Amino acid sequence: MSFSQLRPTQLCFARLTPPATRFSWRSTALGRRYMSQDIGRDFMTGEASSRLTITKTTSPKELPPSKSLLFGRTFSDHMLRIPWTEATGWGAPSIAPFSDINLSPGATVLHYAQSLFEGMKAYRHEDGTVTMFRPDMNMKRMNSSAQRLALPTFNGDALIECMKELISLDRNWIPKEPGHSLYIRPTLIGTNGTLGVAPPNEALLFVITSPAGPYYPQGFKPVPLHGTTEYIRAAPGGTGAYKLSANYAPGVVAQKSAAKQGYAQNLWLHGPEHWLTEVGTMNLFVVIKDRDGVTELITPPLDGMILPGVTRDSVLTLARNHASGAKRLQGLPDAIKISERPINMAEIILSSKEGRLVELFGTGTAAVVTPVERIGYNGGDVMIPTGEDGMGPVSKPLWTELVGIQTGAIKSDWNYVVAK
Ligand SMILES: Cc1ncc(COP(=O)(O)O)c(C=O)c1O
Repeated sequence: MSFSQLRPTQLCFARLTPPATRFSWRSTALGRRYMSQDIGRDFMTGEASSRLTITKTTSPKELPPSKSLLFGRTFSDHMLRIPWTEATGWGAPSIAPFSDINLSPGATVLHYAQSLFEGMKAYRHEDGTVTMFRPDMNMKRMNSSAQRLALPTFNGDALIECMKELISLDRNWIPKEPGHSLYIRPTLIGTNGTLGVAPPNEALLFVITSPAGPYYPQGFKPVPLHGTTEYIRAAPGGTGAYKLSANYAPGVVAQKSAAKQGYAQNLWLHGPEHWLTEVGTMNLFVVIKDRDGVTELITPPLDGMILPGVTRDSVLTLARNHASGAKRLQGLPDAIKISERPINMAEIILSSKEGRLVELFGTGTAAVVTPVERIGYNGGDVMIPTGEDGMGPVSKPLWTELVGIQTGAIKSDWNYVVAK
């Protein structure tokens, strides 16, 4: 009997993972942690009796027409929940109709921002296959965020399997039109209702999903950035390299200030040298030509202030494969240097003045690639070249390849099959 025929159903989770194992816990400065000698085994779901339970909605909602889809406004019929307590570890995962979460007004998430999340997508290919794009990377990042917040870590493979069941159940929520996808939002919060800054002894991991349209339905539109120095997103030793909810709330005022001055996003500049770090909630790439005419694709290094983006890693990997000859991408210059190195506004301005600035773009799950047309800086605008259709000569072939992979036109082991 197939999974979807069970109603309401219980799926023995043990079939997805090796037999349960003895856990090894140790107290660390950050709290109680699972120690890694059993990594790869299923400790997310507790002992062998752990089950994923599925309760289907009796009142399925209508998928809104694709044309009126607004990002993050509509949620699919079901959600996944996995509770955790310090005393008993991870409890049984459950998929049930999307509903509110009951929280004590004393819950630590509400007072001390013990909250982190991920953003990823599932795509429907032309032949109907549904895949998730590189979910292993999101699981790695989510566990690293959990560690930074003293929230419980978990087995990423086990969560991927639970998410596959959720997406498979709600697969009709992936719009059929090209360029559409299902946005997946795993979230982990501290839930114990006790005041006091300490590692939480109760937590909830939940996953909700939301149908998403193409970011640029009318074609690429390069955006203007505000070179922001009066607010910071991240600092050395801080939390910029983790996807913590607390990183985002303070950015809203900065975003509003940029918008008031006519800019679409903040270009976060760090330190007196104004090092470029990130664009809004995207990683940043700059393309310049050196004085010998060689094209250099530059992104700031993962120095603790930069979020290790899945799209950033994918763009770097594709570009490096091209440069090494492992897989050439049509349209990319043959000789291209790929650098993870710091770059500051002085270098941007100099390369612009010398006519060597080729393009600048942001990368992220939501829009994949966002071209930039100018940077508001020191009371003026630094103009950035953009291609005829909005994309530059380096971002275009990289975007084409990446989107080709995500939508299944190009075969890749970055795609995890959810359902055929
Ligand atoms: C601050 C920040 N930087 C970069 C990214 C891009 O990361 P990804 O490519 O994994 O979506 C995101 C989005 O998740 C983000 O919030």
